[in-house]
Amino acid sequence: MDSTRHIRNLALIGFMGTGKSSVGRQVASALHFTFLDTDDVIEARAGATIAEIFKHQGEPAFRAMESRIVEELRRRDKTVISTGGGLPVNEQNMASLKTHALTVCLWASPEKILQRVKDQIHRPLLNEPDPLGKIRELLAEREKFYKQADILITTDFRSAREVAQQVLNQFRMAMRPPAGTHVPS
Ligand code: S3P
Repeated sequence: MDSTRHIRNLALIGFMGTGKSSVGRQVASALHFTFLDTDDVIEARAGATIAEIFKHQGEPAFRAMESRIVEELRRRDKTVISTGGGLPVNEQNMASLKTHALTVCLWASPEKILQRVKDQIHRPLLNEPDPLGKIRELLAEREKFYKQADILITTDFRSAREVAQQVLNQFRMAMRPPAGTHVPS
């Protein structure tokens, strides 16, 4: 990893339904870090749900709010950040996150994603007659962006708890000083 990066936060990226929020909460609690979900911040600021923002202001307005929050995150410390599924598609967002956070992508197959999101109605992009087709299409478009993450973890056959444990291991490894570094006692 680039030694000029100052990793002090953890950012979870990945498609809707890969478990970013539940895993993020568990990891934050284990590390005694603050948990922040970019979608929650947007909803609180806008005083509207994501679905309402998409409907009344449009997706570009939502993406602009998302990028604004990403820039503000540079000032954070000891924070686990759960990001909206489309956030990494903007390359500036990823570059910004990488300056201060270890980026971990949670990955799942389209079938598993559908199984996890099918009873949830708050995701405007999946309110489609053929949600599985839409998931496949978006995943194919976004795969190259998700794979920019420092670490990729597949979640299909793992519980949120197991995924959280893997994320924790990876984060602790990334925070370890390089071999040969003198750590004052
Ligand atoms: C989106 C994912 C959602 C939310 C919005 C758009 C996307 O977040 O930001 O509905 O483009 O994939 P989650 O990934 O937390 O569901």
